[in-house]
This record gives sequence, C-alpha cells and structure tokens, in this order.
Amino acid sequence: MITRDLTTLSKRDVYRILSSLVIPRPIAWITTVDGAGRVNLAPFSSFMGIFGPPMLAVTLGRRRDGSLKDTHRNLKERGEAVVHIADLPLLEALHASGAEVGPEVSEAERLGLATEPSLQVAPPRLKGAPVALECRLNRELELGPVSTLVLLDVLTAHAAERIWDARTDSADASFWTPIARLASVAGPNYGALGQTFSLGNPELP
Ligand SMILES: Cc1cc2nc3c(=O)[nH]c(=O)nc-3n(C[C@H](O)[C@H](O)[C@H](O)COP(=O)(O)O)c2cc1C
Repeated sequence: MITRDLTTLSKRDVYRILSSLVIPRPIAWITTVDGAGRVNLAPFSSFMGIFGPPMLAVTLGRRRDGSLKDTHRNLKERGEAVVHIADLPLLEALHASGAEVGPEVSEAERLGLATEPSLQVAPPRLKGAPVALECRLNRELELGPVSTLVLLDVLTAHAAERIWDARTDSADASFWTPIARLASVAGPNYGALGQTFSLGNPELP
C-alpha cells in the first residue's frame, strides 16, 4: 500500500494525488452568458449530481492570475447555467474548451459548436450534446482562498432521443458513451464506459 498524509503536502501534490484516485469523474460542460450576452463554455470535473433535491455541485478554482474564471463570474452576475454531459464524439471539443482564454472569446463559437435557446435560462444549450440541464444558482460556498463550491438547482432536463428508453422514461447508458475525467498526470486522462453490468437490488448473501 502507498500511503500519503495529505495534511502535510502542498496543494499541488494533494491535487495531483487525489484527482488520480477519485476516478472516473463525470464532467460538467457548462455554458453561461456574461452581461453583454457573450456565451462562455468550459469543462469542470469536480462535479457531482444530487438527485433529491434536483441539484448539481461544481467546484470552481481560480485562474492562474488568481482572478475568477469566466464561468464563475457569469454565474455570480447572471445566476444561470446549462450543464451538459458530453459523449465521446465531443471529446476533443470538450478538452479544447478548457483552454484559459479571456471573456471576449466564445469557446462554443471558436469550436464551431451550434447552440439553441434554452427554455428557462438565458445561457443557450449546445445542440450536439446528448444531455443538457438548465440550472439556476442556488448558493456558493467558499472552500478557501481559491476554491468555491457552487450548488445549482436543475430546472429542465433535455436528452437526445437516441439515448432515451421510452419504456422506462429515462436514459439508457448502453445507447451512449459519456466522457469521464481520469487522472491529469499519470496514464490516460479521459475514459469512457468500458464494461457495464445490470444487477438487481443489493442483498447480502
Ligand atoms: C476535463 C477538464 C476538467 C476540469 N475541471 C475543472 C474543475 O473541476 N474546476 C475548475 O476550476 N477547473 C476545471 N478545469 C479547468 C477549466 O475548464 C479552465 O480553467 C477553463 O479555462 C475555465 O474556463 P472559463 O474561464 O471560461 O470559465 C477543467 C478542465 C478540463 C479540461
């Protein structure tokens, strides 16, 4: 067993180690808009779903110069976002959208990703993404000088017909390949579902 006392390590070391251990992570691919209506797009894998109440949690760090990321600033100003779950054909666009660029650059436009209006929020949704969740900011929790947890209420869920199972009225994972984030240093940094299983209710032998 390799053992590390995280309380004694630098932030950088903790990040490298922990983000290689807590895998696979879903990726929130988020559109927001700024005061001028410019569309911003960025990926975030410090991300989880909370299904009752219908909420999402995302942790936003800071830019290298210490300033707020565009997504964070837009969320503070406008309080709305669309969280997409991307599938494998969108991997390169998703990765590229993580480049640190100024607010004047619309990553969606630069990547040639078509958008369409959302129903309940101002940020548009990505036409090509199989899942889009329209969200409103519920609250922010400062976790330290460079990290903020944002909780989003999910107002509307959109899913592509091709991933939908009409019988159960829910998405079927065998119809699509959601992208997962893996470690950022060692080994592959992205993955997709390899094997899937169907088990019944849990029961002890
Ligand atoms: C796959 C992936 C996952 C990421 N996850 C996070 C994350 O959880 N939190 C974070 O602050 N930045 C994360 N980043 C970095 C942001 O996407 C990056 O800082 C981006 O430039 C922010 O864009 P914005 O300023 O337009 O909001 C991630 C990048 C990639 C490629």
